[in-house]
Amino acid sequence: GAPLLRASAPAVERRLRGSALVRGGFVSPAEAAELLRELEPGLGRRPYQFDHWDGAICGYRETERGRWGAVAGAVLSRVAAAFPPGRPPLGLVHVLDLHPRGFVRPHVDSVKFCGCTIAGLSLLSAAVMRLVSCRAPGEWLELLLEPGSLYVLRDAARYDFTHEILRDEESFFGGRRVPRGRRVSIICRNAP
Ligand code: OGA
Ligand code: MN
Repeated sequence: GAPLLRASAPAVERRLRGSALVRGGFVSPAEAAELLRELEPGLGRRPYQFDHWDGAICGYRETERGRWGAVAGAVLSRVAAAFPPGRPPLGLVHVLDLHPRGFVRPHVDSVKFCGCTIAGLSLLSAAVMRLVSCRAPGEWLELLLEPGSLYVLRDAARYDFTHEILRDEESFFGGRRVPRGRRVSIICRNAP
């Protein structure tokens, strides 16, 4: 299929090979529908938050979930395979619901709350995730996150690069426009 990664230079792509990855079609449309059916009741009542002045995320609502039905549980155990032996994902999974105008500013997940690996499922809308080197801001990698895809950030991609989800106006993957709608991500992290 078409590439899901774009880098500022081949050396950046080589450096992050194995530490930033995307798998398209990781969940089937039926699994995605079942995940959303489980999640909607927990998300649907809260308003989206736009106003937090220093937060990384704008236009979102979120929850954490620890108990899943059979279909979702099976999907999450496949996600767990992206984690290193002995460093499994935490039992509470982060669910982030981004409004069509919502976005995530560049940040590195807190080393106080998150270990070496972050793995996220994207549902509903496609989006572009951009990684930028903390030391050399001209070095970047972009991930095209289609609905049903899984991304993994570990090691260098998790610690030495910021990550962000582009807002609709900036949502391009190279020359390709990636219109943003509502996006739900299911994010597994391991313990510090
Ligand atoms: C976060 C984050 C990305 C996503 O919540 O820390 O980076 O896929 N989210 O929603
Ligand atoms: Mn993050």
